[in-house]
Amino acid sequence: MSFSDFDPTIKGTLPADFQWGYATAAPQIEGAWNKDGKGLSIWDTFGHTPGKVKDSSTADDTTRSYDFYKRDVARMKAYGVTGYRFSLSWSRIIPLGSKDDPVNEQGLKFYSDLVDELLANGITPFVTLFHWDTPQELENRYGGMLNKEKYIPDFNRYARVCFERLGDRVKNWITYNEPGVYTLAGYAAGVHAPGRSSFRDRNEEGDSSTEPFIVAHTELLSHAHVARIYKEEFKPSQKGTIMITLHGNWNEPWDADDPKHVEAAQRAQEFEIAWFADPLYKTGDYPPSMRAQLGDRLPRFTSEESKLVLGSSEAYGMNSYTTFFVKNRDAEPDINDHKGNVEVFDTNKQGVERGIESDTPWLRTSPHGWGKLLRWIWDRYQTPIFITENGTTAKGEHDFKPSGPDDILEDPHRVDFFKSYLTEVAKASQEGVVIKSYFGWTFTDNWEWAAGFTDRFGVTWVDFNDPEKPRYAKRSAYFLKEFFGHLIAES
Ligand code: NOJ
Repeated sequence: MSFSDFDPTIKGTLPADFQWGYATAAPQIEGAWNKDGKGLSIWDTFGHTPGKVKDSSTADDTTRSYDFYKRDVARMKAYGVTGYRFSLSWSRIIPLGSKDDPVNEQGLKFYSDLVDELLANGITPFVTLFHWDTPQELENRYGGMLNKEKYIPDFNRYARVCFERLGDRVKNWITYNEPGVYTLAGYAAGVHAPGRSSFRDRNEEGDSSTEPFIVAHTELLSHAHVARIYKEEFKPSQKGTIMITLHGNWNEPWDADDPKHVEAAQRAQEFEIAWFADPLYKTGDYPPSMRAQLGDRLPRFTSEESKLVLGSSEAYGMNSYTTFFVKNRDAEPDINDHKGNVEVFDTNKQGVERGIESDTPWLRTSPHGWGKLLRWIWDRYQTPIFITENGTTAKGEHDFKPSGPDDILEDPHRVDFFKSYLTEVAKASQEGVVIKSYFGWTFTDNWEWAAGFTDRFGVTWVDFNDPEKPRYAKRSAYFLKEFFGHLIAES
């Protein structure tokens, strides 16, 4: 099957040096959770705690990419990618995590070999330092990110080790992945590691509803310290780029003719994205809408910290998947509200987007909202955008029964998702929005955190029941290869 019906008006719209490929995260794919000296991360502990993961699975094995990385890189090459975004496991590199703890040479060697393998196959590495897997020991010793005085020096040292040992070959660094999701899911809802819930705790020992904001503050400051270290100590010789990746969906007003809902949608956008992006790219401080609602529960930056944070990220790393619809709430905000006092829905009365066709309850195909979001980010921050994640699950993939090693899983829903979103990328780019990369989520099916193996986001199907974790291509992998051939200009 060949895909020939490409829109001729978007041919060659992306620049010749545009990077595309897939993104992954260490705890979701590596397995080898306690192999070759790796220490525990909070996700190892969380997975081993009964009741935390939907299908009771753990991060112990996942896809075993630790063992099979060469096979994976060969497959990526066959898929035609130019780049690969992956994360390093802090507790694989420094098992106990702190600045005074020893480095695990075997752990570092794994990443060094992976980088060499990618480069030998013409694939550019994009490396994330932190994709949610805090070393368990730091959580035990001092509460991880709740204790910024202790945490920041430890993260600084970890980052330095990575720059020293990999920075001769890695030129694209991402400090944090989705700091907002880390803190909201891990410290507000409590559905992700470390599983602290401000909702549950608020009437018990004191009020912990400020915890998510404290953790976010630590993430911003710690990112900024590491960005400064990179720029001052490494960039002059290594000549790479450092950025952060933020999550953010599009929030569409429930009723676009009602100013109350329009304002509410803007507020929701600010609570979700500007919470991190305003300090980083615009003002060095949190958005006024957040200060107005949260008062002193939102930490304050000293003027020195503000200067450190503003401009620290050299590009905008963007993860986004879907659109929500918001209504204004007339009541006073709840102490646990972190959305801007709005009600959130997965559908709206105008029906501007499609319904939920994916296998994931929060994920609709919404190219229309995604196109608006690209422009909102560009208009507000005027910073080059690296799309570091975007993708979908598709129904029915759990039942795939491959008939042979070369069998391909047909995934028209995912093809349609990628096609519609990338068409928006091309159009925004034509209008002058500067977009430098697109990393699909994700290369293979993997361990989707608290959803375990129930959400298959990959362009490659994995048989998790087989200890060898065999992989099978899905059609979308070949679609993307052809579509990027159409979209990227020839050099
Ligand atoms: C964003 C996260 O960075 C990634 O780890 C996760 O699997 C995807 N979203 C899909 O939920």
